[in-house]
Amino acid sequence: MNGFELYNTTRLVFGEGKVNQLGELTKPFGQRVLLVYGGGSIKKSGLYDQVKQQLSLIGAIVQELSGIEPNPRLTTVNEGIRICREKDIQFILAVGGGSVIDAAKAIAAGALYDGDVWDFTIRKATITQALPIGTILTLAATGSEMNGGSVITNLETKQKRTMGSKLLYPKFSIVDPTLTFTVPVNQTVNGIIDIMSHVFEQYFSQTPSTPIQDRFAEGILLTVIENGEKAIANGNDYDSRANLLLSGTYAMNGILPIGVTADWATHVIEHEVSAIYDIPHGEGLSIFFPNWMKFVYKERIDKFVQFATRVWNVSPEGKTDDEIALEGIEATRSYFKRIGSPITLQEVGINDEHFERMADEATQFGDIGNFKKLSKEDVLSILKASL
Ligand code: NZQ
Ligand code: ZN
Repeated sequence: MNGFELYNTTRLVFGEGKVNQLGELTKPFGQRVLLVYGGGSIKKSGLYDQVKQQLSLIGAIVQELSGIEPNPRLTTVNEGIRICREKDIQFILAVGGGSVIDAAKAIAAGALYDGDVWDFTIRKATITQALPIGTILTLAATGSEMNGGSVITNLETKQKRTMGSKLLYPKFSIVDPTLTFTVPVNQTVNGIIDIMSHVFEQYFSQTPSTPIQDRFAEGILLTVIENGEKAIANGNDYDSRANLLLSGTYAMNGILPIGVTADWATHVIEHEVSAIYDIPHGEGLSIFFPNWMKFVYKERIDKFVQFATRVWNVSPEGKTDDEIALEGIEATRSYFKRIGSPITLQEVGINDEHFERMADEATQFGDIGNFKKLSKEDVLSILKASL
């Protein structure tokens, strides 16, 4: 196990009706609030009215930035930065899924920075200050509600890039499972795959002797597999929605990577694809992860045997390690397929036209991943296997 530091400053407020605490949670951060949300799901569900009512209780002066896109755009972030400066905003409240929260984080960092906020994604500058943000999460997926990462798309250059800082951890996140009852099946599925993929990125590690981390990760995977299908079958099932939400938060709040060297190559590849084709993040991961697994499993077959037997209940009897590992990988792919996610690029209308560019961009800072270092050629092989 590697040495590590665990640092998470987000106050997680979890449970039905917790939106009623929004006013008191927001109050310490000032009255001039920017409310950030997406394409209207919060208006349909009535959450918007609840939020406005809570903010009025503390006399907040509220500006709004709506229409945050799934795969949030740099142009929208810049609009938010403009409002923050013009209205001297003190606090940003994000109400929505990961895209809304990520946009709020980028706005928070950009508002107090003299240059272009994109600088943070290309490592031209580091975040040294940011406005405080709070969130109300409406979709189980990214874990952005309890981490300091943000993923933004620059449509002009067709690049999707990340920025991150401890300064971007939300001051609080309200997570109420009933707010996710309205999430449609396809977004529920995307969320399930994103959560599982976050676990994979941190579970498939070369770091030896990490039994606690492994059991945490397997526990989250088993919970998601079971509750994912229940939430798909019945969107109003409180317990399965709650278990998915907590899994999503715990998959990305810094608990899983303690003491291990995580991978993240598949996320890098997926971001290059959704930057060009604007497909949902979960769909890209569903297509690439089983192919990444097949490409790398021999690097540490014991881990893949453990995964197959503990997570997918593959019986080892009379089988070679190779057979067990491959059965686990196929079980992963079958699950993705069974819950209705695409498993080939063809299904989402993508051909090999931009493979070279994707592989170039993915490896622009050098080889990617840690479980197995992937060169441009390796990335191309995974892309081709995903067609
Ligand atoms: O825009 P609205 O109208 O709110 O609709 C959204 C959107 O269309 C809808 N939705 C959300 N909550 C709903 C709902 N519809 C009905 N009822 C509700 N309660 O769902 C759609 C997708 O929302 P989005 O926020 O885009 O989904 P997600 O949470 O999966 O976020 C995806 C983004 O996060 C990035 C991804 O790359 C992608 O850009 N990621 C962020 C990470 C992070 N910050 O840590 C890590 C991830 O790996 C990921 O890369
Ligand atoms: Zn992800």
